[in-house]
Amino acid sequence: MGKPPTKVGFREYAIYQIYPKSFRDTTGSGIGDLRGVIEKIPYIASLGIDMIWFNPFFVSPQRDGGYDVADYYNIDPAIGTMDDFDELVRALADNGIGVMLDMVLNHTSTEHEWFQKALAGDKKYQDFYIIRPPALGSGRPYPRRPARRAADGGLPTNWESKFGGPAWAPFGDTGNYYLHLYDPTQADLNWRNPEVRDEMVKIVNFWRAKGIHGFRFDVINVIGKAAELKSSAPGEDPRYMYTDGPDVNAYLQQLNAESFGQDPDSVTVGEMSSTSIQNCVEYSNPDNHELDMVFSFHHLKVDYLNGQKWSNVRFNPIDLKRTLNEWALGMQEGNGWNALFLNNHDQPRSVNRFGDPTTYRVESATMLATMIHMLRGTPYIYMGEEIGMTDPEYHSIDDYVDVEARNAYNALIDQGVDAAEAFAIVHSKARDNSRTPMQWDDSPNAGFTTGTPWLRPTNQEHINVAAEEQGGKILAYYKKLIRLRKQHLAISIGEYQPYQLDHPQVYAFTRTHEDEKLLVIINLSDKEIACDIPEDFATGEVLIANYPNPTVADTIQLHPYEALTLKKEVVA
Ligand code: GLC
Repeated sequence: MGKPPTKVGFREYAIYQIYPKSFRDTTGSGIGDLRGVIEKIPYIASLGIDMIWFNPFFVSPQRDGGYDVADYYNIDPAIGTMDDFDELVRALADNGIGVMLDMVLNHTSTEHEWFQKALAGDKKYQDFYIIRPPALGSGRPYPRRPARRAADGGLPTNWESKFGGPAWAPFGDTGNYYLHLYDPTQADLNWRNPEVRDEMVKIVNFWRAKGIHGFRFDVINVIGKAAELKSSAPGEDPRYMYTDGPDVNAYLQQLNAESFGQDPDSVTVGEMSSTSIQNCVEYSNPDNHELDMVFSFHHLKVDYLNGQKWSNVRFNPIDLKRTLNEWALGMQEGNGWNALFLNNHDQPRSVNRFGDPTTYRVESATMLATMIHMLRGTPYIYMGEEIGMTDPEYHSIDDYVDVEARNAYNALIDQGVDAAEAFAIVHSKARDNSRTPMQWDDSPNAGFTTGTPWLRPTNQEHINVAAEEQGGKILAYYKKLIRLRKQHLAISIGEYQPYQLDHPQVYAFTRTHEDEKLLVIINLSDKEIACDIPEDFATGEVLIANYPNPTVADTIQLHPYEALTLKKEVVA
């Protein structure tokens, strides 16, 4: 085992994530705004969280919910002004809450002035992007014929866009192609160019100078592309041709040294797509001076059929616990640090996915919360999770706005999947499932807007903040979890060990710091099931439980989705 962390800091944080577009609209535009967040500070502060990660609200044409940035230095006018931002940061600071900004540094919007200058022929800015001539013979033809194309016309590599289709689009009428790992309006930046790296440092330092200490780096493990881009061999996944590239570590070290690393209070997290434990250890081991922690996604792929996101299958509890356990142990071993989460703006709601949104909504929401908050790492709570929000009850593809969901639906139809099945698949995985408005009350627009919401809420009559505040169980449970984390070093920095790993339905583990030892027991199923309890825990204290008065003896009969954390009796 690596040496245990000594500094608690971000390890005892609970971080709240706000998708500003869907949090609270104060103007009636149907889109949430920064003043809406200011209005809701008393609620946010009541949770006891330490920092808010805001999804990007920089100037953007919003082709990908703000992840297509056209100007990194200004706030999108649809969401607010720089004065609103400054006021928000101050007001949060008055409540002891920090701000984490979402830095989308792998790509810019094609409306960004750098891309526009590049298109106009400016060589300096052409070198800001990844532009390549057509491959000679080996590449695939571009589906829609560009206005003018070079002799061969094959795409430079076989890489796929994460939103479907090829990752290359014609670069104006030059006959060349530019790389876009996401939407064609999100052009990948060329991090090999030192001027690009300087610009990235400048952006981070601009926001630091405004008093920001937290940064989330979007898809940061794909910035290190090789000089010579290659197609994957037949049958191999092209993602590995550009993911966790050899230069990512050096780029992160540079960013760290020249920006946030100069701030002892900085808190950073990198979003790592299709990565490995070993790479995540390297990104987050403090000795490497890269990032504080990482988001990884293996545990959210347990309901992908044959690795395919666009499939509709129920997860197997064994796969979930094995994956979480493997990451917990591997990251601990290498002295790395996990960002813990089940929900975010890209994922369907965890209660639908891993729990039961109808019969056991309260029990499964609190069970999943226990699992995330008791694992080794820093927990993130995505807005609405703390009141047990579920996927919306949509019935038509027209209810979905997200480019990814709409592309996926069309691709499924093209593959011959029937419309009802294609809808069911998209409904089970769509990112819009979590982007519906925050449900503040039971009114028709959930207290989110007086206008027409950009995405429709559906079940606010029975799931909303007002109802939870009047005696609901989920909100109170989250507040308790957040409080406990600050009272028990075993939760924030304790050593993790699995317990009875082979149990088919129960995920159990211990967390130990000096003489404090906790046992966390989680029933991942809707079935009653027995679990053995070691003797010294049977006589200990129940720290938190999601069913009233659990009777703990040397065996416990767990209810559906029951979760409890026991503290071992310490003999003086
Ligand atoms: C990340 C974001 C996602 C976005 C993508 C491209 O995965 O979380 O919302 O679409 O990056 O920027």
